[in-house]
Formats: sequence, C-alpha cells, structure tokens
Amino acid sequence: MRIGVALYAQDDTFISTVAQNLEWLAQEAENRTGQKISLFISDGRSSQTSQMDQVDRFLARQCDVLCVNLVDRTAAAVIIDKAEAEGVPLIFFNRQPVAEDIQRWDQIYYVGASAPESGTLQGQLVLDAWRQDPAALDRNGDGVLQYAMLEGEPGHQDALLRTEYSIKTLTDGGVEVEKLANDTANWNRAQAAARTGQWLEGFGAQIEVIFCNNDDMALGAIDALRDTRWEQADWPLIVGVDATAPALEAVASGQLYGTVLNDSRGQAQAMIDLALALWAGEDPAQAVELEEGHYVWLPYHMVTRDNLEELQEAQ
Ligand code: BGC
Ligand code: CA
Repeated sequence: MRIGVALYAQDDTFISTVAQNLEWLAQEAENRTGQKISLFISDGRSSQTSQMDQVDRFLARQCDVLCVNLVDRTAAAVIIDKAEAEGVPLIFFNRQPVAEDIQRWDQIYYVGASAPESGTLQGQLVLDAWRQDPAALDRNGDGVLQYAMLEGEPGHQDALLRTEYSIKTLTDGGVEVEKLANDTANWNRAQAAARTGQWLEGFGAQIEVIFCNNDDMALGAIDALRDTRWEQADWPLIVGVDATAPALEAVASGQLYGTVLNDSRGQAQAMIDLALALWAGEDPAQAVELEEGHYVWLPYHMVTRDNLEELQEAQ
C-alpha cells in the first residue's frame, strides 16, 4: 500500500510533528496488520505550484491514497479533479478546503480539529486567569484587558477563527477588552519576535496579554521579551495553541501561561486508519468517527502548568 503525503511546508513545527507521527503510526500499523505500507512525503515549501507537481508525481507512482496539506486552501479543486480522474481517494488535513470542494466527490475527506474550538479554549485560559486574579492581569487597574494579537497566515481557517473566538470568549464572559495591536506573523517564530519587539517599544507595559494563534509565534513573543530587561514577573500573559514540545517547556518554566493541545498524533492516527480502510475498500465510517460523510474532528485540550504532567504522561 502506498500513501503519498504532501506537506505545505516541512519546516513548520506543527506539520513536522504530524509527519513524524504519520511515519511512526504507519510503521505501527504495518507491524500490527502485516500489510506493507510505504509512505512518500513531499515538501511544498509554501509553493502551490510545487505541490501540484508533487501530487502529479504521487499519482504517477500509483499511490493508493493521497494525504494533502494544501499550501493554498482555496486550490483544492484542481487536486480533487486529478485524484478523481485516477480514482485515488484524498484526505486533506490541517488546511481545510471550503465545503463546496469537499462535496465535489464522495472519496474526499478532511481530518482536522475545529478552529473555533481552539480559539474558545485559548480565550477560556485567559478568562480563567482573569477571574482567578483580575489584578494580576489588569496591571493598569482600569478594568479593561489590553491585548495584542499575533495572527497566523492570512486566510488560514485557524488564523481567522482563533483570532475571533479567543476574544469572543472573553467578551461573552463579561470582560471588557481593548486591542492595542494585531498583525500576522505567518505562524513563524522569527516574524513574531520582530513584531513583538516593535510592540514592546511602542506600548511597553500597557500590553497585558499577547494572544498567539500558534505556539511558534508565542515562543517568538517570548524571545522578544527575553531581549528586554524586564523581570519575568512583569511580562504580559502569553497564550498559544498546539502544545509543541518547546512550548510545553515554556509552560513548565512559566514563560508561556498556557496553550491548547492540537492533537497531531490523533490526527495522524485518523489519517492512517482512514487510509487503510479506503485502500481495503472497507466502510471508512467503521474505521473513524465520520461526520457528514467527509469530516473527522479531533478535540482540542487546554494546557497549563496545572495539568502539564498529566498530559506528558498520557503522551
Ligand atoms: C497550527 C500551526 C501551523 C498551521 C499550519 C495550525 O493548525 O496551529 O502551528 O503552523 O496549522 O497550517
Ligand atoms: Ca487594563
């Protein structure tokens, strides 16, 4: 059995974790079933044109199933048409195509996690902190939460919806907020550090919370704070999403207040289970929990210092 896996960019921390889990879990499935599974992984390096060529190559190599992490999530239709012409089932992941594209063919699936849920849980982390000790967060004592927002790649469902739902959770919870600054840092640590450095110069201690659409950008914000002479006790509260290994270390050291686990292992497991079922011609709904015939949703979980150990033991 051959699975072609097209990554949007292999140097993305979260995506490389998914790829690593896919390799482990394919090996594990091979040992368990005795069925040889070959995984081919390509790196789109953020170019949709390159990714199209890589998909063509997977089809020419007679892959049985394709797993695609789109560079541009509006470009799904072309890939769908190619796969459908060859009768090769498609599993999109992490970058969600629009519903009309998913509906184009019955052999199309999406494995991911609900973007609004991740935003809501990130907002909940901050809401809980505010309710526990409002004075610690509201450093200027004006009863309003001043914040900055580091956003992921424009157009990515997780960037749009985490930005929206994190704040909505606070306002729904009765907290008044004031946005001091927001910008995209494209999921990227170095870009986030540069942006945060500018904000710290411009706003200084006025920023009470930095919301980061992912952990790499949260680590970038931390890099910028470490470059200042501020005591860690004076840092704004920082929250991320993903629960990558370096982010969990930052939670342990108290530099990152909390994050939201984006279950890379669960997503990889669902992709392997789905791929095996599709390859064997079995009903995919028996292999994974399928919604609306196309979607597999993995839950997010809040992570703070309080449940860090539990989480690390479970993994
Ligand atoms: C992750 C980010 C990652 C992005 C890539 C998101 O779900 O939280 O860390 O950069 O996916 O598409
Ligand atoms: Ca305030």
